[in-house]
Amino acid sequence: METRKIKIMASYDWSMRYGMVEFVKFVDPVIRYKGKEYKIELGRVIAEPIICGQNLKETADFVVDRTVHWNAYYRCWAQQALHSQMSIANNPNSFYAHEKHSTYDLMARAIHPEDHFPITVLLPQFYPYTEDQERQEMWEYEQELIAQHTKFGFDEFRRKTDWQKIHEKLQRSVRLREQSKLVRELFYSKEQYLKDTVEKIFQNRFPLYLKKTSGGGGSDVFKINSLADLYEKYDATQGRSFHLQEAVENYDVFVRCMGLGPQILPMRFEPDKPLHEHYSPEKLVLPLNLHERMTNYVMLINSYFRWTYNSFESIIKDGKIHPIDFANACPDSHFTSLHVHFPWLLCAKLKWFAYCAVTGKNMKSDMEENAYLNVFNDPNKTQKEKFDFHVAMSKEYFEIDSFKEFCEENFKDLNEKMVQFYDTRFDDVIRYAIHFSDFPIEDHANFYRQYKERMDKVFRPNAKDYLSIRPGE
Ligand SMILES: Nc1ncnc2c1ncn2[C@@H]1O[C@H](COP(=O)(O)OP(=O)(O)OP(=O)(O)O)[C@@H](O)[C@H]1O
Ligand SMILES: [Mg+2]
Repeated sequence: METRKIKIMASYDWSMRYGMVEFVKFVDPVIRYKGKEYKIELGRVIAEPIICGQNLKETADFVVDRTVHWNAYYRCWAQQALHSQMSIANNPNSFYAHEKHSTYDLMARAIHPEDHFPITVLLPQFYPYTEDQERQEMWEYEQELIAQHTKFGFDEFRRKTDWQKIHEKLQRSVRLREQSKLVRELFYSKEQYLKDTVEKIFQNRFPLYLKKTSGGGGSDVFKINSLADLYEKYDATQGRSFHLQEAVENYDVFVRCMGLGPQILPMRFEPDKPLHEHYSPEKLVLPLNLHERMTNYVMLINSYFRWTYNSFESIIKDGKIHPIDFANACPDSHFTSLHVHFPWLLCAKLKWFAYCAVTGKNMKSDMEENAYLNVFNDPNKTQKEKFDFHVAMSKEYFEIDSFKEFCEENFKDLNEKMVQFYDTRFDDVIRYAIHFSDFPIEDHANFYRQYKERMDKVFRPNAKDYLSIRPGE
């Protein structure tokens, strides 16, 4: 029997790692594929010196990235892994290079005619430079330089300040400022573009959302209620780039989907609740037509960008899907966030990662953007034709039929195994998750009880439903 090594890169979501390891140990699957048998071995990618040109292929058969957006070593490691032609979920280069803006722009081109991508405008970066601000900044910089170039001695007369160096650096900074002023003069619009955008593109309708073009965590997202409000918030953007986006208010349901390969789980999302209660414990069942379109959007983003483990936020209002945030290729996978949905995540991960590792699925790291863009930019194609096209592309990328067959053969009873795992081992997962959570230590016992009760009362009697994407399927 051969072994397939799956390695998850470093991350702080200990409960997910612990849950995966314990579940795989419990199931101990023997995978059958094309007449051969395989064992799965889970592991970590260990940070150690690597030589350029070294082949990393022996390290693992499949790597799961949880790192490249926050750890420079692992980003380099993952790039070298791509050069070694290893299979990775998710493509480190596309995750590093493509942020919210790129995904928004793609969605605007690919949306189904019955849905609506909220109008979204990319604003020029702005940093206010009044004379007073400039003087203040220069003064602060000078103080820094004095501190940097001053040495103190045992005898106070031995204090030395290198005024020559300070002067040189200040002069260089003045010249650079003049150049960047020139760039602003030559390359930036001098129009009243905020006012114009609000008038011409948003027809003076508020609220709007001013949100940064990259990153996550809900920081730098502002609800804007008037032009004056917009001026105030835009003044504080400090040279970072932002979008202005139509708000979707009074909605029916806010949905966040978790995507693992072609397995897409929609969950009700409650952004106004505390962080650990963002995901509602409700088993969300969308009308079939919305469910299908939603699944197809998630698959479009995840196949186009090669992020097969990503989350996707959208708002449903008046029977239309409004996608709003889907560049999250390191999705929150803590038990404390996902609770009743967490067992589904463990099953979905095991199935998709095992499939990729055992079949040697080609993750196609050389993205096929033009195959998509030739269609999205074809003026003779209708929006419906564009939508149907990307649905077919996703189906091919995710090898839907072959994945289904693989799961039928190897994981038919996985949900029952999860229930047995729950009954015998899951208390430890909860305990472990609380131990590594951000909850204050004095509240741990209380949180353990709350989560345990929710799992026992909500998940366990309805395990079958929670472990399927749509109950009864
Ligand atoms: N167009 C919109 N209409 C209505 N609400 C919005 C819109 N855009 C953002 N929001 C609200 O602001 C929150 C944060 O926005 P967004 O998800 O784009 O930022 P983020 O930094 O990616 O946040 P997170 O990492 O928490 O997902 C959303 O969860 C939602 O509540
Ligand atoms: Mg979000």
